[in-house]
Amino acid sequence: MKRFYNFSAGPSMLPESVLAKAADEMLCYETSGQSVMEMSHRSKPFEAIIAGAEALVRQNMAIPDDYHVLFLQGGASLQFHMLPLNFMTINKKADFTLTGTWAQKAAEEAKRLGTANIVGSSKDKKWSYLPEITGADPEADYFHICYNNTIEGTQYHSIPEVGAVPLIGDISSGVLSAPLDVTRFAVLYAGAQKNLGPAGVTLVIIRKDMMERIPAGLPAMLSYKTHVDGGSMYNTPPCYAIYIFKLVQEWIRDMGGAEVIYRQNQEKARLLYDFLDSSSLFFSPVEKSVRSLMNVPFLTTEKDADKAEALNKKFVKESEAAGLVNLAGHRSVGGMRASIYNAMPLEGVQALVAFMKEFEARCA
Ligand SMILES: Cc1ncc(COP(=O)(O)O)c(C=O)c1O
Repeated sequence: MKRFYNFSAGPSMLPESVLAKAADEMLCYETSGQSVMEMSHRSKPFEAIIAGAEALVRQNMAIPDDYHVLFLQGGASLQFHMLPLNFMTINKKADFTLTGTWAQKAAEEAKRLGTANIVGSSKDKKWSYLPEITGADPEADYFHICYNNTIEGTQYHSIPEVGAVPLIGDISSGVLSAPLDVTRFAVLYAGAQKNLGPAGVTLVIIRKDMMERIPAGLPAMLSYKTHVDGGSMYNTPPCYAIYIFKLVQEWIRDMGGAEVIYRQNQEKARLLYDFLDSSSLFFSPVEKSVRSLMNVPFLTTEKDADKAEALNKKFVKESEAAGLVNLAGHRSVGGMRASIYNAMPLEGVQALVAFMKEFEARCA
């Protein structure tokens, strides 16, 4: 059966070689006589899998020894609450930039526990740019950014300077798309279902000195201390998701690491943005300097709202028939969006651009 080019924003494409290896090992993992799905998380083979996943992500992201690496559940959305619960604990306030839906959700969740200062927002122009960051409140317990805005298609190409205030980054949709200096951050987190593996596991990276801020008496599952002490196995971890995570890390390493992946991502993104910038029918609504390498929203030049909606629907339907799937924009913003994560091959973006050119010739 033919596989489509899948432009979904997440869960999204996984490298084909990873899926093939998982299929090979489905019935029997190495010499264990069982599937990874069936094995005890306390078994030797699974202990090797989770240790391997950690070692590989440390290598691929250049995570120093003074950071903990955790594999948690509850998605990035649970991190929106765990972060303030564990770290907004000194002055009970933190700084947030509002750059889209997910950044807003992180701030809203923090508001339940203290003061979420909004130090910049791009809402006035439909999230099409990133507000300039000119520093942080020195008393803020931390400064939170969403590194790549999955729905709106913006990305920080340089990390904001916030002085001594701990910087926390939601890197769900940008993780390992490009080299990132982990040491600029106190905490990083990412749901796996874009660049790391299947849904179900969330990567959390915490600088060790941050652990001192965690109050005693938090519910066990909501305290990072519990998960550090338990080596991400306080309770049953999402074993199979962690196994696929490890295979994806092996794939990244074998591709040549984050730097090589970054160059491929730049080439894919350039191809699509160059076309959008030269098209008479399609355009990118995002300011050039902050365009995401991973999520590319686009609209048509049709001014009449009903006609534009009909044209979008026609595009999505016809692209699907051409084997290019999940190109509808997020339900909150409409239009179209191509998510071109690490596992999307260059050929997929070439096929998309060829289809868009042909559609434009017919419909512009
Ligand atoms: C940047 C970002 N943060 C957070 C989330 C929420 O992630 P989850 O569904 O894993 O809770 C998403 C989901 O797409 C996202 O793109």
